[in-house]
Amino acid sequence: AGRRPLIAGNWKMNIDHLHAIALVQKVAWTLKDAGHDFDDVEVAVFPPFTDLRSVQSLVAADHLHIRYGAQDLSTHDEGAYTGEISGAFLARLDCDYVIVGHSERRAYHHEDDAVVAAKAQAALRHGLVPVICVGETAEDLEQQGPAAVPVAQLAAVLDGIADRLGDEAAEIVVAYEPVWAIGSGHAATPGQAQQVIGRLRETIAERLAGPLGADRADRLADATRILYGGSVAVGNVAGFLAEPDIDGALVGGASLDARSFADIARFRS
Ligand code: G3H
Repeated sequence: AGRRPLIAGNWKMNIDHLHAIALVQKVAWTLKDAGHDFDDVEVAVFPPFTDLRSVQSLVAADHLHIRYGAQDLSTHDEGAYTGEISGAFLARLDCDYVIVGHSERRAYHHEDDAVVAAKAQAALRHGLVPVICVGETAEDLEQQGPAAVPVAQLAAVLDGIADRLGDEAAEIVVAYEPVWAIGSGHAATPGQAQQVIGRLRETIAERLAGPLGADRADRLADATRILYGGSVAVGNVAGFLAEPDIDGALVGGASLDARSFADIARFRS
């Protein structure tokens, strides 16, 4: 439905600052040299907070077409919250995106659906597009099948941000990342991912029909980009993107290598 693919690289807590600067440049220039059409396939990176100011300067100074965002944000906008980074700060660094609800934050920082919803709210308050991550563990998969947990996680976040989504300009991205596929080298199959992602798209339409009306909910479901993440590599990305509801990839490990990440972004060539 005319959704522009998004290839997103989540660097997690890897690589030092100088390496990070080099990586952004190398990705951008590798793609430029290859004649990559950034209007055709959007490319974004998610470095650690401490790299964002430098990335902002580089992107602005060199007119790089790469977009960027943060890996997390506070539910609060400002105040006595030691160690937190607010959406306002990220907006001032010209971030377009911010990841919320990554499974690593759910698991290691005990972020539940309510926290993830509050973070998505905070992102939208500051004009950032939240990349809302959902996904089931191996145990969930065994006990409840593939779609139940991701659908419930997405529904909870949608309930928390429905009032913001009434705004026609409001945008979200969803990333389906089966926890068992992350960093394991064992990606889901395109068919498995499509099955869940199709359900996630239906969930947007169903869940928002009440608060927003069926028309707005349908349009949002149709316009929202839903990415697959979990052991995405040069050799498997095209298979995912060939599925009707899969609009891109959230890439972890393979995004740390400029050549691999650029090749993933060039999945059409
Ligand atoms: O956010 C990215 C994902 O967690 C995927 O990581 O590509 O290393 O499996 P991975």
